Amino acid sequence: MINSELNSLRGSPFDALRTLLGPLQPAAGLEPLTLTVGEPQHRPPQLMIDALRANEHLYNKYPPVNGTPELRDAITGWLTRRFHLPEGMIQAAENIAPVNGTKEALYMMAQVVTERANHNEPKPAILLPTPYYHVYHAAAVMAGADAVFLPAAKETDFFPNLDALDPDLLDRTTAFYLCSPANPQGASASHDYLKQALMLARRHDFLLIMDECYTEIYDRTPPVGVLEVCAELGGSLDHVLSFHSLSKRSSAAGLRSGFCVGEASLIKTFLNLRNFAGAASPLAVCAAAAALWNDDVHVEENRAMYRLKFDLAERILGTRFGFYRPDAGFFLWLDVGDGIEATKQLWTKAAVRVLPGHYLSASGPDGTNPGDAYIRVALVGDLAPTEEALTRLVNSL
Ligand SMILES: Cc1ncc(COP(=O)(O)O)c(C=O)c1O
Repeated sequence: MINSELNSLRGSPFDALRTLLGPLQPAAGLEPLTLTVGEPQHRPPQLMIDALRANEHLYNKYPPVNGTPELRDAITGWLTRRFHLPEGMIQAAENIAPVNGTKEALYMMAQVVTERANHNEPKPAILLPTPYYHVYHAAAVMAGADAVFLPAAKETDFFPNLDALDPDLLDRTTAFYLCSPANPQGASASHDYLKQALMLARRHDFLLIMDECYTEIYDRTPPVGVLEVCAELGGSLDHVLSFHSLSKRSSAAGLRSGFCVGEASLIKTFLNLRNFAGAASPLAVCAAAAALWNDDVHVEENRAMYRLKFDLAERILGTRFGFYRPDAGFFLWLDVGDGIEATKQLWTKAAVRVLPGHYLSASGPDGTNPGDAYIRVALVGDLAPTEEALTRLVNSL
C-alpha cells in the first residue's frame, strides 16, 4: 500500500546520526556541544519581528500563491543589487516565485520538468553532486528519474567535472541540481564553470537548478551567481532557476521564506503545481521577508560574525585535517580519515556532535564515496562554544 520508492529513500542525515550516536554516551563531565545542523543561531534582525507584528492582523486571510507585489519587488531589488543585473532583466511578476523555504521548492521542481518515460523510451535522468543536500535525491527519485550522482571531490575543486559528462546522459537529463556556494564544502563555482553548466543545459534541453542559498554568507569575495552569467549572455533566463533563502542570509530558518527566480514558463507551471500541493506564505511573513530583502546591513553584520568564527577555526586548526578557509557558507569540511569513526570518537571523548560526511554523500559511478573521509562541522553557534568545541576537537582526534 505504501509507495516503495518513498520508503526506499535514504532518510535525513540527522536520523542516521541519531542511530549512530544513540547507544553511545557523551564524554562525562563535559557539556555536550552540537555542531551538526546548518541552522544559524544568530539573532534574526529586529526589523523582521517588527514587520511580523505590524502585519499580524492579516492572519485571517488566505495569502496568494505568488506572494505580494511588495515582496516580489524587494526580491527583484536585491537580485539587481547583489548580482549587478541590468534594470528590467528580472520581471517581478513573471520570473519570481516566493516559497516557504527553498526545501520544498527544490523538491517540487523536479516534477515540473520530468515526464515519466513510456515503455521503450530511455528513463529520464536527474544529475546531482555528491556530497549533496538530501532533498535533491528524493526529488529525482519521486519524479521517476534515475538519480545520477556526480562526485564533487577536492580533486575537482568540490564541483562535478562537467567535461566528463556523457552526451547520451545529458540528452536524457531533465534537471541538474548544483549548489554554489556548495554545502558542505563551502567552495563557490567560478563564472566559467557556471557558464559551462548553463550552456550544457541549453544545448541538451534540461533545467539547471542552482541552489544558491549560501551566496550571502561569504568570506571575502561575493560568490558569482548564475544570473550574472545569464546577464552576460544577453539576459535570457531560459533553462535556469536560482534558489535563495532567508534561512541563511538573515538567520531566519524558522520564518520559512525564500524564493526561486528564472524562466517565466517554469515559474508559471511551478505556481500551478503549488496551487495543488503547496502552502502560500502568510501575508505577515511576506511583509517580514520584503523588509529583510530590502536590507543589507544585517547581512553584513552576519557575515562579520562568521568571519570571526573562521578566524578562530584557522587559529585552532591550523593545517590539521586538511583545514581550508571556505569561500562561503558556515561549514568546516574536515578530512579526518574516517568520518564515522571520528564522529563517534568526538562524541565519546569530547561530547562534541558533528556529522559524518558519509551521511551527506553517495558513491559515484566508480564506487568511491567522496564524503567518507570527512566530517561536517557547522559554525552556527556563538563564538565561545565554537572555540570550546574546536579546541576539544583538536585535542581528542
Ligand atoms: C544546500 C541547501 N539547500 C537548501 C536548503 C533549504 O533551506 P530552506 O528550506 O530553509 O530555504 C538547505 C538547508 O539547510 C541547504 O543546506
